[in-house]
Amino acid sequence: MIEFSQRMQTFHLTNGQISYLLKIEDHQYLSHLYFGPAVKDYSGHFSYPRQARSFSPSPAAYPRHDFSLDTVMLEYPAGNDDFRVPAITLRHPDGSRVSDFRYDSYQITKGKPDLAGLPHTYVTDDNDCETLCLTLKDALSGLRLHLFYTIFAQQDVISRHVVLHNDGANTCTIEKIASLNLDFPNQPMDLIHLPGGWAKERMVVREPVTTGIKLLDSKRGASSSQQNPAVILTAKETTETLGDAYGLTLVYSGNHEITVEKDQYDQTRATIGINSFGFDWQLAPGASFTAPEALLAYSDQGLNGLSRQFHQVINQHLIPQRYQKMDRPILVNNWEGTYFDFNDEKILAIAKEAQALGIEMFVLDDGWFGHRDSDNSSLGDWFEYPGKLKNGLVALAQEIKALGLQFGLWFEPEMISEDSELFRAHPDWRLQVPGRQPASGRQQFVLDFSRQEVRDEIFRQMTAVLDQLPIDYIKWDMNRNMTDVFSAVLPANQQGEVAHRYILGLYELIDRLTKRYPTILFESCSGGGARFDCGLLYYMPQTWTSDDTDAGERMKIQYGTSLIYPQSTMGAHVSAVPNHQVGRNTSLLTRGNVAMGGLLGYELDLTQLSTEEKSEIKEQVAFYKEHRQLLQYGDFYRLVSPFDDNLVAWQFISRDQKESIVFFAQQYAQPNPPLRVLKLQGLNPDLTYQINDQEIAGDELMQIGFYLPIDLHGDFDSRLVVLKAK
Ligand code: GLA
Repeated sequence: MIEFSQRMQTFHLTNGQISYLLKIEDHQYLSHLYFGPAVKDYSGHFSYPRQARSFSPSPAAYPRHDFSLDTVMLEYPAGNDDFRVPAITLRHPDGSRVSDFRYDSYQITKGKPDLAGLPHTYVTDDNDCETLCLTLKDALSGLRLHLFYTIFAQQDVISRHVVLHNDGANTCTIEKIASLNLDFPNQPMDLIHLPGGWAKERMVVREPVTTGIKLLDSKRGASSSQQNPAVILTAKETTETLGDAYGLTLVYSGNHEITVEKDQYDQTRATIGINSFGFDWQLAPGASFTAPEALLAYSDQGLNGLSRQFHQVINQHLIPQRYQKMDRPILVNNWEGTYFDFNDEKILAIAKEAQALGIEMFVLDDGWFGHRDSDNSSLGDWFEYPGKLKNGLVALAQEIKALGLQFGLWFEPEMISEDSELFRAHPDWRLQVPGRQPASGRQQFVLDFSRQEVRDEIFRQMTAVLDQLPIDYIKWDMNRNMTDVFSAVLPANQQGEVAHRYILGLYELIDRLTKRYPTILFESCSGGGARFDCGLLYYMPQTWTSDDTDAGERMKIQYGTSLIYPQSTMGAHVSAVPNHQVGRNTSLLTRGNVAMGGLLGYELDLTQLSTEEKSEIKEQVAFYKEHRQLLQYGDFYRLVSPFDDNLVAWQFISRDQKESIVFFAQQYAQPNPPLRVLKLQGLNPDLTYQINDQEIAGDELMQIGFYLPIDLHGDFDSRLVVLKAK
């Protein structure tokens, strides 16, 4: 899959679907040639026009007289005489920031190396991918840079990461180290990104790439709901179904930085990596630094095609192997049902209703530990005081298990309340700058997870609970942004390392816990969906998508999330009306239909429901179970975007194309509404499908489509339609 041409001095990575080409130029600089649909036999004709140098005042250090780094597409730029956004910035002991990395050697291997302490894609069969490692050297400093590229055989995805070694005699400071740089030739492009906020995560924004630099980032200590660590670049004409789409995402859960720059020649450069803001890292002689993995995907079948590449690589090469294709349980969570106001009876009453409705798991959310009756205390005290649960947590869990339900529990391990035993014992364990009052968020503070002893104590407390419990699931929450980023145990010149060391510490603790409890299903959460990223998905195969459980809002949130992340990663719950976040009433039908677009769950007090509502939920649960593999793991196609239209539609298709489920809804009711035709996708044109009481050929459904029923009534009315091949 990876070839080096001695004659052309080029590397060609291809899986037959995509090609990635780069070249060793004169003076051993690495230029980027191409990324896109596969080219079979690259001839070498495409190369940097050297005459460009004579038209341009861009400098070129001797002896690069016919070659300016400022004009050529580069593989991993280091700045200096390339004035565009650099991928790497180093401060050398003499204070200079000039580095000059030149190509040294390469290695091609089957399979894929692990990334020490960082989440990453993996293969179980080395034939599923091939890896190119390019070694570059900066002669003066003795720094050695490894650029890794892994191309997957079955997915049109290349994973990349970077390792910097210090073979020199002096400590150097890393100020920026991106995981990926990608230069595009002059062509009009659009940028699609996923900004948002609490309860409105991953809204879809599409805009033209214009001259200058667009910075998309998070400085919040988490991948954030404000800006998901992923972008898509497309041709102007690209739609959901057609056209070039290039996707970049970071396998990381902390501060990230994405830049998109259009340069003086209208070439576009994209970089993605750890945020350089507030970051620097001391690289001592003999030490190495690994920058997180980034994933690069391509499709010529528009955004849906690109999403399928990401969905497949996440489902098959990122989430823990054990959960691949595994039926995810339908759960009930008590948070919106009770908040902190619960006791054993209330919980058991909800669990009994859940069991009668066919729900499979009960999740006890916030409030079971310490003196936690509101959000102002007890984080850091992961043990019970007698009282709230009369017979204690273990007895409650056993009773729930005896009903035939699985049992799950909420933790927020990274946090500390001032009103806690832990804080009284260790007031210096939170992130804070000595002498300054740290900012409080939701009346809580962030533990310094860069410190081993802090993580060890949380591990000790959590395992003391978990070792006694019959437990199947953990919801791992993280409810505030990181501020006052300072660690009591690091010297002044290493304080720029804290945010990244925190994330490394977080991964280390999660790794320890998931290895110790391999059968516990973990779901990550962060004040809703503020840490929906490929980093946590490596350990925890599902994520709570948003604290906004309103079905109308969720159509947009789940639609945006699906651009990168598969539906098998998205927690989605039916909650009560009027909705607690926006006060809107939507039908139980629509709440169920929308939640089935992700991992179906319920989050309301089931004991308060009418008999009719209970029987409707029973039907939803039975329907979901019947179609669970299709809904959770089928190919997902977005059909109509709620960001562009009053209508929203999406579709699930089984791999063998024999079964499909279509979801559609109107957002706002309209008088005298337009007659709408919906065209399906991904069906087999040669098969005939049973749809309602009709039999219709796949090609007709895709090319001609069908009129949507005119009986959609009221705001956010929706339908699910099942198609089965004859
Ligand atoms: C966060 C989560 C919610 C719930 C609460 C509990 O907001 O997103 O689902 O767990 O915390 O405090």
